[in-house]
Amino acid sequence: MKIGFGCDHVGVDLKHALMAHLEEKGYECIDYGTDEGVRVDYPDYGHIVAHKVAEGEVDKGVLICGTGIGISLAANKVPGIRAAVCSEPYSAAMAVRHNNAQIIAMGARVVGEELAKCIVDAFFDAEFEGGRHARRVEKIEEVC
Ligand code: RB5
Repeated sequence: MKIGFGCDHVGVDLKHALMAHLEEKGYECIDYGTDEGVRVDYPDYGHIVAHKVAEGEVDKGVLICGTGIGISLAANKVPGIRAAVCSEPYSAAMAVRHNNAQIIAMGARVVGEELAKCIVDAFFDAEFEGGRHARRVEKIEEVC
């Protein structure tokens, strides 16, 4: 599986830690920025990764800003994208199992590195359950 990563200046260290963690588990990780030392606007990186997922260049995405909120709001503006902000593993698993989220967002000022690793593990280990959840996800997609 190919995973696209994006972050603002607040999320750089956590992004690199999570990329190393997931690469060790065999995932192919692609970094769409940003890099150290430059203050940037989180929507730019939320949009880049969301477009990469929507276009099929990567299968899923991980986004990080200070809270995870701004960058997920930006990603969710891209049609067909469901980005979920999660601060614990249960929600991360359910975001896939029930909501078929393709992108997980986290806040580098909210979660520590070890918790963030547990969160991405829960997200990438989970599978969409379909059935009644598919109908509900379709209803989300009906509103542009
Ligand atoms: C940057 O200071 C901060 O606003 C950003 O990282 C994020 O938390 C926005 O939602």
